[in-house]
Amino acid sequence: MTDYPVLFEELDPEPRLLMGPGPVDVYPRVLRAMSTPLQGQFDPQFTQYMDQVQVLYRQVFKTRNQQTLLVNGTARAGIEACLTSIIRPGDTVLTPIFGRFGHLLKEIAKRSSAKTVSIDTEWGQIFTADELEAAIKTHKPQVVAISQGDTSVTVKQPLKELGEICKKYNCILYVDATASLGGNALPIDEWNIDIVSAGLQKCLSGPPGSSPISFTDEVAERILHRKHTEAGIRAPGIVDADGPIIQSNYFDLAMLMDYWGPDRLNHHTESASMLYASRECARILLEEGLENCQHRHQLTSRALRSGLQAMDLELFGDPNHRMDNVTGIYIPKECGNGALVRSDMLNDFGIEIGTSFGPLDGKIWRIGTMGYVCRKSNVLRCLSALEMVLNRRGFKTKQGAGVDAAYSIYEET
Ligand SMILES: Cc1ncc(COP(=O)(O)O)c(C=O)c1O
Repeated sequence: MTDYPVLFEELDPEPRLLMGPGPVDVYPRVLRAMSTPLQGQFDPQFTQYMDQVQVLYRQVFKTRNQQTLLVNGTARAGIEACLTSIIRPGDTVLTPIFGRFGHLLKEIAKRSSAKTVSIDTEWGQIFTADELEAAIKTHKPQVVAISQGDTSVTVKQPLKELGEICKKYNCILYVDATASLGGNALPIDEWNIDIVSAGLQKCLSGPPGSSPISFTDEVAERILHRKHTEAGIRAPGIVDADGPIIQSNYFDLAMLMDYWGPDRLNHHTESASMLYASRECARILLEEGLENCQHRHQLTSRALRSGLQAMDLELFGDPNHRMDNVTGIYIPKECGNGALVRSDMLNDFGIEIGTSFGPLDGKIWRIGTMGYVCRKSNVLRCLSALEMVLNRRGFKTKQGAGVDAAYSIYEET
């Protein structure tokens, strides 16, 4: 019999440097913002903060979209809200799959009663614009759903031309920018992206649990054709739209638009601490400047990659299309599936790095350099720790070669 109460100890986690594919260390300013006292969700000051979040994320997404807001939940909550609200049962949804998250988009589309079709490429490669156009021509989808950067494979799909292609064939382009936003360019208006969602825990360096999304007026119009307002909050005279009801209540963007719009029609209770976190993440990014932040991610990745190659490690993925915030490397055969190296990195040096999923599980390591973590000192710490661990685990490297190569990149800039 257990003697109650059982309280456990106060939280006291080991200090870690999170250099996996995300989550990454949170900006201290964001942690402080999260401890800001709460207000009621209809407090005029709090609704003003909601408005400010909309203004901030319009700048982050480089968009004029009025409908720019947060979905409470991790990045897949944003994905699910977007897909379930735009896909009408029976719509054809094309998912070009180049990694784990393409499969996720397909699965969510299927759960939204879409007829799903997909094209696949080898993990680590991307699609050419011609391949994408051919698939759209053949399948005539109403929606194309694709990730910009897929952390599972560390490569980035070019989207500029895809936006134009989708426009030409009159289909909606949904982009999952969870892993890329902030560290990689994503001007959604310029690239004709109709609807996009992201998360905080990658380049924005916030905690998981909030998903910024944005969509055009045309997409809003399409969603409003399916608007069914909850009976308990419906004002007299409001009638439901004649389109098919959106299958999820929580992820119903028609109702979320009312909640975030001037009517402030109640839906869920806004997750205030996550709203504060999202607000601070955007403020930090915009203060640095989008281009500066992207440049920092590019430089840091270059330094890391140069160091890894100088240690005779082989980089994974199409060299012309790597994400600027996460690097894949083949696990050398001397290190088996790489698990011992990862646990030495974590237990002896306090540095977390990742492996991958599916066909890449135990085949590659993934090292993230995102947001707060994306800095020279962390690259040098990671390379020197990795050198030690690799040599102890049987993969011999030239002493100091990795750190030297990384230093050289910084010195030439
Ligand atoms: C590209 C991409 N999409 C979606 C997700 C899912 O995000 P979450 O775990 O926050 O739901 C991730 C997480 O790593 C991701 O990298």
